[in-house]
Amino acid sequence: MIEIEILTIFPEICRAPLSESMMKRAQEAGLAAIRIHDLRNWTTDRHRTVDDEPYGGGAGMLMKADPFFRAVGALRKPASRVILLTPQGKVFHQSIARDWAQNQSHLILLCGHYEGVDHRVVEALVDEEISIGDYVLTNGAIAAAVVTDAVVRLIPGVLGDERSPVEESFGEPGLLEAPHYTRPADYQGMKVPDVLLSGHHGEIARWRREQAIERTRRNRPDLLAAQVNSLAQS
Ligand code: ADE
Repeated sequence: MIEIEILTIFPEICRAPLSESMMKRAQEAGLAAIRIHDLRNWTTDRHRTVDDEPYGGGAGMLMKADPFFRAVGALRKPASRVILLTPQGKVFHQSIARDWAQNQSHLILLCGHYEGVDHRVVEALVDEEISIGDYVLTNGAIAAAVVTDAVVRLIPGVLGDERSPVEESFGEPGLLEAPHYTRPADYQGMKVPDVLLSGHHGEIARWRREQAIERTRRNRPDLLAAQVNSLAQS
């Protein structure tokens, strides 16, 4: 069981992706509690202001510290881990998702917007800054939905088939997956490789491994290079 609180000024951006399919089932089964909060509920002025101009000048607006401090103050528990979604963060990875799924019981995800957040939030509230990749989104709510999905699907019992998280890409040994095919065996002249129809489990496993290596070489040579480096160091 994991509890995740998402603090955003755009709750609707997170709502749909986290209330369908596996995320819905996980919550109905009591394996996850995902709560999406409107940060404006923790403003104190009539206009429910969440942003202001940066000291020192510069383009754009910043998110004010106070709504975040009030919200985290209200939601925090002794075991909470507070995460800020920001392109300035450490890049999210399957290994982080696995670590949180295993070791965290309460995540509070803070979503940035505009040009960023008042840095006192990072200094005094946040345990870890996380980016979902080297590109800039309009706001952190999309990133929070991504991180939540990646973590919750790894909670035991959420995926029907307990094997699948182990065999998929980014499990050991760090290769992408081989191609998969389903019926029909001949689709408009495009045929499924014979070996997959052969029934020879050994040959199928060898073919899948070769394909996985080739696909990794083509699409993610950085993953192979990382393995060569770790072998060289062991
Ligand atoms: N907010 C904007 N861009 C982001 C990113 N790449 N990761 C996390 N939060 C973000």
